[in-house]
Amino acid sequence: MEDIVSFAKRRGFVYPGSDIYGGEAGLYDFGPYGVELLNNIKTSWWRANVRSKENYVGIDSAMFKHPKVWEASGHVGGFSDPLAECKQCNTRIRVDKELGKIGIQADEKMSEDELNNLFDANRDKIACPSCKAKDFSSVKAFNLLVQSNLGDFTGDNERPVYLPGEACQGIYLNFKNIVDTTRMKVPFGVAQIGKAFRNEISPRNFLFRTREFEQADTQYFVKPNENKEAYEAIKQDRWNWYLSLGIDEQKLRWKQHDNLVFYASDAWDIEYEFPTYGFDEIEGLHDRTDYDLSQHTKFSGTDLHYTDPYTHDKYIPWVLETSMGLGRVFLAVLSDAYTVETMDNGEERTVLRLSTELAPVRYAVFPLLKNKPELVEKAREVFAELSKKYPCEFDDNGNIGKRYRRQDEIGTPQCVVVDFDTLEDGTLSVRDRDTTEQSRVMIEDLL
Ligand code: GAP
Repeated sequence: MEDIVSFAKRRGFVYPGSDIYGGEAGLYDFGPYGVELLNNIKTSWWRANVRSKENYVGIDSAMFKHPKVWEASGHVGGFSDPLAECKQCNTRIRVDKELGKIGIQADEKMSEDELNNLFDANRDKIACPSCKAKDFSSVKAFNLLVQSNLGDFTGDNERPVYLPGEACQGIYLNFKNIVDTTRMKVPFGVAQIGKAFRNEISPRNFLFRTREFEQADTQYFVKPNENKEAYEAIKQDRWNWYLSLGIDEQKLRWKQHDNLVFYASDAWDIEYEFPTYGFDEIEGLHDRTDYDLSQHTKFSGTDLHYTDPYTHDKYIPWVLETSMGLGRVFLAVLSDAYTVETMDNGEERTVLRLSTELAPVRYAVFPLLKNKPELVEKAREVFAELSKKYPCEFDDNGNIGKRYRRQDEIGTPQCVVVDFDTLEDGTLSVRDRDTTEQSRVMIEDLL
């Protein structure tokens, strides 16, 4: 993973956030190739979850929401990590995680008192990860929501607004709007890609646990008790999408939650086996029953019951959620594609074996020689044609071998070279990233 992190920076995929200020924990910026890869993952996801489905629509809701939304969702009251502070060096620990390491499961639903009792009974077994002391404060719930302010206020922020702790709330808030303004009828799904912010106390593992990240969510609204079959179909569908990205199936697995978060009645994760970190969650699937729409009905005073247009049954729909962390999937895709190999001539090369759909650059276009104006001019014409349709890069810098190597590293499936034969017969030399074989192709065939 260390190699991948330094590769990601060196080749313009991911930079540490606020790098010139020495960085800021848990924040990262996507660089020129990173944003292309990220956008390609999003496009693939949107196509699979909105465009190719008859009964799904997409939205893009505002990040800031009425403050009551986060009370209704349960995040103001219940979205917290239990922390204790080392009295010697002030390091904070996640008490549930530390208890887990010594084989004791702390239930998510435990009160602060119950957790303190459990922690007290096991204090002698838990040492501070920094100074090894076993001298901790009592356990306090630390809320993960990030607070902000909107509008004109002076002094105390009496009406704090929150950055989204999860992207999906915008979908519940628009459930009624969508029913009233589109032809969607239950069962139907709504998709959204949106940012989420969490005051993670120990952001870690590169893009895996960050304080700002993006989620790609679908919420599928079904009739009460008609959740089981739909849930199984959604699970299969999500699994297949990962395979469609070209991810190695051996590195994927399902994990069912024993400890359910406050809104879920059943929950499964799709896990990916990251180098160094091992298997961990990239997407969560939650059976949320009627929790969300009931809570928003109660807190907003707006009735979110649905009336079936055929049977006239009236009910609060149940929700089946898929929530994928884009940073984590980006890291899984990058890890899966990252290969260092020895070529026949004994040289080592780094290759990103990304699928054609995901590669940041589809075609790299080179003139064979930089100092032959007729080759450069023709290569620019080819670039102009191909880039109307595909993400392309023009490169005339350095010898051709070095240019191939640069494109292999960023995962470009094919390099297109304009040489003297091109000027004669219009064919281009097309070199394949994976086999390194070259063939001659007419531009029309590439298009
Ligand atoms: N709406 C449901 C929800 O937010 P979650 O399991 O807390 O569920 C869903 O988050 C996904 O978001 C996770 O599977 C993970 O991929 C991603 N995610 C959660 N916290 C994250 C963090 N701190 N950094 C990066 N990704 C995160």
